[in-house]
Amino acid sequence: MFASSCVKIEYLNVTRLCHTRNILSVNGKFPGPPLVAREGDRVEVKVVNHISNNVTIHWHGIRQITSAWADGPAYVTQCPIQTNQSYTYNFTIVGQRGTLLWHAHISWLRATIYGPIIILPKHNEPYPFEKPYKEIPILFGEWFNVDPEAVISQALQTGGGPNVSDAYTINGLPGPLYNCSSKDTFKLKVKPGKTYLLRIINAALNEELFFSIANHSLTVVEADAKYTKPFDTDTLLIAPGQTTNVLLKTKPYFPNATFLMAAGPYFTGRGTFDNSTTTGVLLYNHQSSHKNLTLLKPTLPPINATNFVANYTAKFRSLANAKFPAKVPQKVDRKFFFTVGLGTSPCPKNTTCQGPSNSTKFAASVNNISFALPSSVSLMQAYYLGQSNGVFKTDFPSTPLNPFNYTGPPPNNTMVSNDTKVVVLKFNSSVEVVLQDTSILGAESHPLHLHGYDFFVVGQGFGNYDPNKDPAKFNLIDPVERNTAGVPAGGWIAIRFFADNPGVWFMHCHLDLHTSWGLRMAWLVLDGPGPNQKLQPPPSDLPKC
Ligand code: C2O
Repeated sequence: MFASSCVKIEYLNVTRLCHTRNILSVNGKFPGPPLVAREGDRVEVKVVNHISNNVTIHWHGIRQITSAWADGPAYVTQCPIQTNQSYTYNFTIVGQRGTLLWHAHISWLRATIYGPIIILPKHNEPYPFEKPYKEIPILFGEWFNVDPEAVISQALQTGGGPNVSDAYTINGLPGPLYNCSSKDTFKLKVKPGKTYLLRIINAALNEELFFSIANHSLTVVEADAKYTKPFDTDTLLIAPGQTTNVLLKTKPYFPNATFLMAAGPYFTGRGTFDNSTTTGVLLYNHQSSHKNLTLLKPTLPPINATNFVANYTAKFRSLANAKFPAKVPQKVDRKFFFTVGLGTSPCPKNTTCQGPSNSTKFAASVNNISFALPSSVSLMQAYYLGQSNGVFKTDFPSTPLNPFNYTGPPPNNTMVSNDTKVVVLKFNSSVEVVLQDTSILGAESHPLHLHGYDFFVVGQGFGNYDPNKDPAKFNLIDPVERNTAGVPAGGWIAIRFFADNPGVWFMHCHLDLHTSWGLRMAWLVLDGPGPNQKLQPPPSDLPKC
């Protein structure tokens, strides 16, 4: 994909693990083609839908300043593109450079419809780190032997947990630890004594992943298209929706070994999950002397290594120098405290469900509201046309209506309510949100993604957030700035941002299962006074529901 192009959503036959499926793809590619652009570029991508499902594409992490119509979440900023219809996404990349991803944003279609966004710095702008010899995208995904749409629709019907994926993949390839898969192994061929930039993207549906390469340490230099202070690590953790650029320095001489790279799950919940490992190989190009090379394997942390995760995420700091300052809101106009986590909803009369009990279904919520999307209009169209009556309300609670000990023994009543409510923000207000995990049906890490913004993660901790003590420990100098951050299992994070981008912006857990269960909400940011501070009128080809 290029800055100006036309792409097709079409079927593609793909065989993995000896199962052939007719998957949904962009331009017959799996993973999809990269969108390569430069900071400052205007991007125009016409998407033509040649499949029977409705579809949208989301440019995950792109700020979409005043171009919210191009953001892509179905029923939030647009109705989906129907079969044989098209829509042109039109936006300018402002003040961003690095790695992001694009993906389908309706139901679970992003299982196979995803690809990298590579934003190069402006011409003649160097990286704030050593110029890499080569740049390589590494995308993690999840492969299902069956149609993922059938998996989620069945789960929503029965109210139970869904069937889990059959494999994780690196650039679409599961690797030798799975059935029938040795030939489907990602190979990274390198030369000794060079520095490679790996653009790592987690496009998996439901799992945070550890990643490591045997005998090589990695230097993190960027996260979610924001430069970070460099730090070294042997193992990364990356949540769905997150991206991390790392430098890989190869050994100075040809080693007598090949090196496995591996990605496997971090999981603390109670349900089932795909407990498998995808691997690829790092090969030094010394083909002439192909002796018996030893194969070295990395060790990943244990599945539930929450302390590793907390230490790892605490290492991220904004670069925060003169050229790339961290403009952290120092004072706050609006404060919010949101609980995020699981819950239950009632099983329909005269049926049995497979939720936590046979009379309940699994649900998920923010401040106990399981967010319902409209189906005949998008939230932003309803807002723009002044027709929000009956579509959404504007009284999303800024704190839980019934406070409880969030990380203690769960309350007796775990029922969520279903509703469509947004928070209205004045243009340019400074916002702080404390996101608090709950222990209802198990404490679990939730990678929260905010559309249209990057936010600063000014604090994190375990247990219940303490509004009297915790703010004193906030980092208001060089906190990491991202679009997706994990709310720790049984803990909280505090984020801050300036609401300087008008439109309706979705915020949700980037584990698709939790989004489907309702762990999602929306912000409505009003226009500012200036001409460049207003949501533009919708494009004429904006799809109809
Ligand atoms: Cu990457 Cu709303 O999603």
